[in-house]
Amino acid sequence: MRLPLPQVEPDAGLPSSVTIYEVGPRDGLQNESTVVPAEVKAEFVRRLAAAGLSTVETTSFVDPRWVPQLADAAEVLALLGDDGLGPRRPVLVPNERGLDRALEAGVGAVAIFGSATETFAQRNLNRTVEESVAMFRAVVDRSRSAGLWVRAYVSMCFGDPWEGPVPVSQVVDVCRRLMDLGCDQLSLGDTIGVGTTGHVHRLLAALDGAGIGPDRVGVHFHDTYGQALANTMAALRDGVTVVDASTGGLGGCPYAKSATGNLATEDLVWALDGAGVETGVDLDALVATSAWMAQQLGRPSPSNVVRALTGG
Ligand code: HMG
Ligand code: MG
Repeated sequence: MRLPLPQVEPDAGLPSSVTIYEVGPRDGLQNESTVVPAEVKAEFVRRLAAAGLSTVETTSFVDPRWVPQLADAAEVLALLGDDGLGPRRPVLVPNERGLDRALEAGVGAVAIFGSATETFAQRNLNRTVEESVAMFRAVVDRSRSAGLWVRAYVSMCFGDPWEGPVPVSQVVDVCRRLMDLGCDQLSLGDTIGVGTTGHVHRLLAALDGAGIGPDRVGVHFHDTYGQALANTMAALRDGVTVVDASTGGLGGCPYAKSATGNLATEDLVWALDGAGVETGVDLDALVATSAWMAQQLGRPSPSNVVRALTGG
């Protein structure tokens, strides 16, 4: 039976097309305690691409002692092979050691990941904010020389579980410093999912005022408090056209207490399909991929759309 699709009623306040930056294989899997075999990870990436996701963040070249689940980064890339999609498969890289490993594996795009707060910089990178910017400088310089596309994440943009509220000016300052290193795109992380729509508008306006327009910004909402889709729609109304999402709503950061799954890609695609926004993603194929991955992980997907469409 064909799955139901939303009735299309164009929403004039939204962009005509959106790029979904899929983070399931990286953000989604990094939090899983049961080790997923490299072949399953590679198959997940292949299926996502086949469902129409043009950008799939594939893995992470961090210290494997910090994130054992992604210790097989090079193996996953080797399984995917040299199919020309490298530039569409960014990988996380924290430092030069990670970049060496990533270059050896033949990557085409990398993402550094900073923090708006000192506590999370320490917990996630074992560095102060200042020290982490210095660490990233060499990574970005060398990545650019190697012709790689570079993304800069900033975590804890909407609140921090240890420090509480995070001033917008503090977030903008870190974003500016990372973008000044020469990154192509910024991703605003609501790592613990506490943001709300007014906060999104305020941060995007402040970034624009600091010379970082919405054309260079992606949004990365975790869904801990059920706000991820509302916050995404708010950002799209402000001109953002890149949205991070994780198939099946998997995800979280092992170093951020109370970080749960990302915005589920299926929920985002349902909303954008209904509003007449082009994503290039085939919802049927995506839901089938999600159901397959949930089977591999041995538990149902937390995505509302997957549950509704699969009766799971
Ligand atoms: P450190 O312990 O300070 O590292 O960790 P170090 O530079 O002192 O090196 C210590 C040892 O680790 C050395 O080995 C290095 O070679 C090795 P030894 O000489 O002792 O044998 N090492 C590495 N090995 C392999 N690959 C590497 C690497 N680096 C060092 N890349 C470090 C510092 C940054 C490495 C560590 O803190 C780390 O790996 N952190 C990553 C944590 C992480 O992956 N968190 C999740 C991703 S971020 C996230 O999810 C948020 C996001 O989704 C946005 C949002 O939601 O907000 C992006
Ligand atoms: Mg994240």
